[in-house]
Amino acid sequence: MAGTLRYGVGLLGLGTVGSQVAERLERGSELVQRRTGVELTLKRVLVRDTAKARRFNPSAPLTLSAAEVIEDPEVDIVVEVIGGEAPAHDYLRRAIMAGKHVVTANKEVMAKHGPDLQELALAQGVDIYFEAAVGGGIPLISTFKIDLLANEINRIEAIINGTTNYILDGMSQGKTYDQALDEARGLGYAEADPSSDVDGHDSVFKLCIMASIAFSSRFHPEQVYREGITRLDPRDFGYARDMGYAIKLVAEGRKHDGAIELKVHPTLIPHAHLLSQVAGSNNAVVIDGDLVGSVLLYGQGAGGRPTASAVVGDLIDLVHSMRKGVNNRIPMWFDRNYPVHPFAEVVSRAYFRMEVEDRPGVLADITTVFGKHQISIDSIVQKSVDATNTTAELVVLTHPAAEKVLQGARRDFEALYCVRQVNAFLRVQ
Ligand code: NAP
Ligand code: HSE
Repeated sequence: MAGTLRYGVGLLGLGTVGSQVAERLERGSELVQRRTGVELTLKRVLVRDTAKARRFNPSAPLTLSAAEVIEDPEVDIVVEVIGGEAPAHDYLRRAIMAGKHVVTANKEVMAKHGPDLQELALAQGVDIYFEAAVGGGIPLISTFKIDLLANEINRIEAIINGTTNYILDGMSQGKTYDQALDEARGLGYAEADPSSDVDGHDSVFKLCIMASIAFSSRFHPEQVYREGITRLDPRDFGYARDMGYAIKLVAEGRKHDGAIELKVHPTLIPHAHLLSQVAGSNNAVVIDGDLVGSVLLYGQGAGGRPTASAVVGDLIDLVHSMRKGVNNRIPMWFDRNYPVHPFAEVVSRAYFRMEVEDRPGVLADITTVFGKHQISIDSIVQKSVDATNTTAELVVLTHPAAEKVLQGARRDFEALYCVRQVNAFLRVQ
């Protein structure tokens, strides 16, 4: 069309997310042009293997050279959907240094280097967008960056990894861990290395990104306490359900006493709590702000299509800034420098499952240990586990206690003559 503005897009990656982005830009070009007022054309696509069979084959040429995309004078915006820290971080830096605006779905890079990349972009007069890095298709970054700006954020409580939620949901319905993980990989939810999902790193990256914006401080993934889901036992899902709880991988950032708690670990969530109902690969984030109160954002947290929704949404937003000749329209501040509470001081309720000798006096010895550590018991249930009645299983829920106190009791149980094994130790919301 004569007189229509034209911007070129270079795409790094054509996998689960990249192929959906390419498809929306090419097959959905009419929608994109209507929403931007410009012709947004895919110019080049970086892949590792040009001969690979693809879900969508763009008309833009594929290349094995990142430089060909980043340095192409017809590319105004570089979209990075490769994943992982290297070489994606380097490509993003090079693109910004070359004066290109960037859009990325990369939580690892944004959690580890986000504030530095934002400063670099500011210095280079370009923009960096990363809505897709957290919560797939759920508008979270823009919510923190724009809609909740008037608030002091006090708490973020989230299920923020689709793969682990899919696995935990499956296990609670009787699937094995391996079966559910295979399904999540087949559906395109898992990272290229799924240990990033199941060991909790992916949730840590996302919590770090949200918390840095929400609490205006630079947090690093190493400051977040992390436990994954690989050691969960199917028995605990049954016991938790009987007691009125679901087991979820919960990421939490909470401000109190002038510092922030940052933690990711499996948590027993009461059935009455919204997060306990989050099914499949969905994510949910509850945000508490001092003006707005409690806000819940819920939706598809993984998968190519929801994530492409966030990437292309960023592109459209970016194009409007480019047309107006502005960048860094809503800056982010990292000027609060909140410290992080040591995890040992964090207070929570706990769930213990122990295999103990089944004979008189054992319960008294167990309760003595809780008493010694000043841990108050909420409930205690004994289950028979072997036909000979030589051992029994004790499931104990406690009232709140500091992590270091709970761990002290756990060590004492492990050393106690009548305890064969502490099989499970989980925190309770
Ligand atoms: P993916 O399916 O593994 O695709 C990765 C793409 O990047 C592939 O096309 C691959 O090329 C290309 N690539 C990887 N390493 C490369 C390298 N060194 N040089 C050149 N090309 C390389 O990954 P994805 O699931 O689309 O995820 C992409 C990004 O989006 C990640 O940051 C991920 O965390 C994020 N994300 C994913 C989801 C999701 O549900 N999948 C949701 C939100 C965010 P080949 O195709 O030639 O192998
Ligand atoms: N592997 C990630 C997940 C993709 O399962 O949530 C979305 O970021």
